[in-house]
Amino acid sequence: MHTIMIDTSLDISIENTPQSRVAELDQDNLKFGRQFSDHMFIADYRDGQWQELRIVPFGPMEFNPALAVIHYGQTIFEGLKAYRSDAGQVRVFRPSANWARFNLSAERMCMPTIPEEIFVGGLKKLLQLDEAWVPNRPQSSLYIRPFMFATDEYIGIRPSDTYRFMIFTSPVGAYYSEPVRVKIETEYTRAFPGGTGYAKSAGNYAGALYPTVKAQKQGFHQLIWTDGLEHKYIEEAGTMNLAFVIDGKLISPQPSETILHGITRNSLLQMARDLGISVEERRVTVDEVVTALRDGKMQEAFGIGTAATLAPIAMISYQGEELPLPSPTDNAVGDQLRKALDDLRYGRAEDPHGWLMPIE
Ligand SMILES: Cc1ncc(COP(=O)(O)O)c(C=O)c1O
Repeated sequence: MHTIMIDTSLDISIENTPQSRVAELDQDNLKFGRQFSDHMFIADYRDGQWQELRIVPFGPMEFNPALAVIHYGQTIFEGLKAYRSDAGQVRVFRPSANWARFNLSAERMCMPTIPEEIFVGGLKKLLQLDEAWVPNRPQSSLYIRPFMFATDEYIGIRPSDTYRFMIFTSPVGAYYSEPVRVKIETEYTRAFPGGTGYAKSAGNYAGALYPTVKAQKQGFHQLIWTDGLEHKYIEEAGTMNLAFVIDGKLISPQPSETILHGITRNSLLQMARDLGISVEERRVTVDEVVTALRDGKMQEAFGIGTAATLAPIAMISYQGEELPLPSPTDNAVGDQLRKALDDLRYGRAEDPHGWLMPIE
């Protein structure tokens, strides 16, 4: 073990893996979320302070069966990506935006917030060590998973006094291999006003499994969630926000307390504005979407998120009626946006908003 200083003047102890596993990585067959890089970052919260910042080899951890998180679900996470540019440089996409959202989630779940220098500084140091794990194939990236969980060894419902924050990473390829088929959900609900929908808390995802699996058994890739009160407004899809092109306008449901404030969505809408595309962020009704599809006025629909990037939608089902989207034409909005995002991430274009953080 040796202690090093990083530019944020954080003390992080580092235990290097005795044997890197990177040579075993098959970059041409990356499965989402299955392979993990050599190291992980850990910080513990105790006595009101984040302490014992360390990087250790990725591997199992021991826990007490009374660990609070296992029983009452006090845990949150983030998801972001690092990309290798065509010239070989590794850069992380908007880590400070994920840090800010992490702290919003933490507050909602009665957990301590974490300083940016630990979240971003720990991430930077981890990526410096595991740089070789950032793939260089088209559409590939290193998925980064920061998370925090309650570690009191106590059975009782109250916020834990102690927590662990961790980051590990996983090389990934494309998420969906084909345009997706989605179903507008009008029975089950993901999020409710006053609830936790805007937070990346694990329970939101556990609660979504049952209706999602049901839809998958009916042949859909994902659900489109609607509002919990009336099932009248479009919210989001699985782990993606949504955008539609209706009459040439890019329309996306406005994030709210029941819709996750997606960083990809925010970035792509900014890029659309930069490209001179007309953008509307507002509430979008189910009726508007279904009518536009039936009348042939919807040219494109796509899901947008870190994992899937921009996933074109092939078909939207509503109460048993299958409404296909037309095949995208040349210069479709989705294609323009995907290209602009790829050019940025893989270093083929300028970064006018300063979204990419180099790890060196
Ligand atoms: C519920 C949900 N909606 C939307 C998104 C997309 O957000 P982002 O673009 O920040 O990945 C995610 C993924 O984080 C998500 O889990």
